[in-house]
Amino acid sequence: MTISAFRGEILSVPQDPATTPDAVQHYPDGLLVVEDGLVLALGAYEDLAPRFADVPVELIDGLIVPGFIDTHIHYPQTERIAAHGQQLLQWLEQHIFPAEAAFASRAHADDVAAFFLDELLRNGTTSALVFATVHEGSVDALFEAALERGMRITSGKVLMDLGPESLRDTPESGRAQSEALIARWRGRGRLGYAVTPRFALTSSDAQMAVAGELLAAHPDAMLHTHLAENTGECAAVMERFPDALDYLDAYDRFGLVGKRSLFAHAIHMSDRAMGRMAQAGASISCCPTSNLFLGSGLFDLALADRHGVNVGLGTDVGAGTSFSMLATQGEAYKVCQMRGSVLDPFRALYLATVAGAKALGFADKVGALQVGQEADFLVLDCAATPLLARRCAGASLRERLFALQILGDDRCVAATYIAGIRRHSR
Ligand code: GUN
Ligand code: ZN
Repeated sequence: MTISAFRGEILSVPQDPATTPDAVQHYPDGLLVVEDGLVLALGAYEDLAPRFADVPVELIDGLIVPGFIDTHIHYPQTERIAAHGQQLLQWLEQHIFPAEAAFASRAHADDVAAFFLDELLRNGTTSALVFATVHEGSVDALFEAALERGMRITSGKVLMDLGPESLRDTPESGRAQSEALIARWRGRGRLGYAVTPRFALTSSDAQMAVAGELLAAHPDAMLHTHLAENTGECAAVMERFPDALDYLDAYDRFGLVGKRSLFAHAIHMSDRAMGRMAQAGASISCCPTSNLFLGSGLFDLALADRHGVNVGLGTDVGAGTSFSMLATQGEAYKVCQMRGSVLDPFRALYLATVAGAKALGFADKVGALQVGQEADFLVLDCAATPLLARRCAGASLRERLFALQILGDDRCVAATYIAGIRRHSR
């Protein structure tokens, strides 16, 4: 039994500030007590100090917040971030599919997976839902590297039997490899499996049916895919499924829309489709840096809110332009501005933490540093740059948090802790 404690300013947003008064927990001089990787106590230092007088205390210079949860990111695209010139379908053909073909090599996958997870840690991201490639070994590489680092990572082999020749599987091989990965990795570390059809255009009806069967057969697995990102993509989906009510319905008919389903983007959505997502309890990953980079469109958070759909934030690297969930919160603010609504900074932090944990099905385990949860957190430095230091001098908590979201990135992450153990120091 090991107990450790961290004293500093602590901020957590366990509830959605849009719907819950007093959703914000803030201790200007707080104490976070960790036992065997779990939160044993969280509160004001002066209240908790007598109870833990014997425990060694690490003084934290910065703002402690729960580890960020990236609900949509592609590790094999790490080296193709910032690829110039195209929108989604041409960008995939020209830049992404060739890069993903290289993951047939396990050595390459190991190399990129290690860099990728270290980059998440440098950015304060402690949990993520991650696209691998069509290759079974790409998932093994990521899971092995995540296990070494103790990170909470969900991933799965990409299903794409209608993909380009270099990246094509079959309904049978896709099923067999998914089953093998689920059996091999179930219950290990903090890993989870996601059945991952790339999107409606790269899987045959037979493979979509396999995805539905895998999901039904494995109640501990998630469904992870893309939805309604780009208008050209949406038109092609409706051409392929002429009798579908909309893009979401193309997934729904194969049993892929449920409370374990996460859809990235969901920009071009009808009221019907958003209502169906709410009814099914499915979640959305909103990926603003990607949507702006690829010219895909502006996510409508107010529409999702009206229907009560849970929305987390995703970087979507390599279409996304930053690993930083701070930068992602800042871009989400700007997209909301373009849509005529205002994203509160505490709500942005909620989206980047608890809403993401809900979307990924582990809100009981991480996201808010509540007693009994896993102690994943980071330390933010409001003086990381001369400009931030000037902006934050004498500023309120709300102003400092917003400045971090608008001006901040990995430079502001002083340290990242996984289950109470420091895994990154700036
Ligand atoms: N839709 C299908 N595949 C992809 C991908 O790799 N990235 C993004 N942003 N959208 C997709
Ligand atoms: Zn994506």
